[in-house]
Amino acid sequence: MRKNIVAGNWKMNNDLAQTESLLTDLKKQTKTTSAEVMVAPTFTNLYHAYEALRTTDIEVVAQNMHFAEKGAYTGEISASMLKSVGVNTVILGHSERREYFNETDELLAKKVDAALANDIRVIFCFGEELADRKAGNEETIVGNQIKNALFHLEAEAFKNIVLAYEPVWAIGTGETASPEQAQDMHAFIRKTLADKYGNNVADEVSILYGGSVKPANAVEIFSKPDVDGGLIGGAALNAEDFFAIVNAF
Ligand code: G3P
Repeated sequence: MRKNIVAGNWKMNNDLAQTESLLTDLKKQTKTTSAEVMVAPTFTNLYHAYEALRTTDIEVVAQNMHFAEKGAYTGEISASMLKSVGVNTVILGHSERREYFNETDELLAKKVDAALANDIRVIFCFGEELADRKAGNEETIVGNQIKNALFHLEAEAFKNIVLAYEPVWAIGTGETASPEQAQDMHAFIRKTLADKYGNNVADEVSILYGGSVKPANAVEIFSKPDVDGGLIGGAALNAEDFFAIVNAF
């Protein structure tokens, strides 16, 4: 049975004091469902968050990582460095990294390989631009993003992969995809996986939706059969809102 997951992507928010405050608020919240809960602070706060949350069932995850094990990559962080601070899951392929840091499918495939080689679970992000959807090309774009970065993998690898569909036009805009739009794309994604690896693999992969998920829309979105949770941005910066979404199943 695939897992329900709600992950909070804090992006470039929260200095140490703000992180401490949010972690304190998160520890006061109560989870009422079987969903897995994750939060992704910035690199500078990862170990602090790991230490603060280690007695809770909230997992601390990273927002990115480099593919190299070590060396002359100023400013970068390796998989083994993440493991050393207790991190075992990493977000890769977020649209903001694709846009602002020119992360290509080829580069992301190398990052995915490095994460899996270090036994780090991957939350792999993808999604179409508004122009793609208006042109009716959303399935082609999403299908290519998945195939180009993931379809070199063996079926076994998907035990350590979570997919996150984040239509770019819904991220940070308040323009949430409708539950039907989310379900249609998630069903397409699952069929794309099944066509390559078979139903047994496809049915076990959690597919998260991301893009303006809020307490007011989470229940309806998460009620769809191929939506297994959410990757949350803005709403993750408030503990009550975040747990309202965690408990939306
Ligand atoms: O990674 C999740 C993020 O891209 C969604 O952001 O603010 O639309 O929930 P937001």
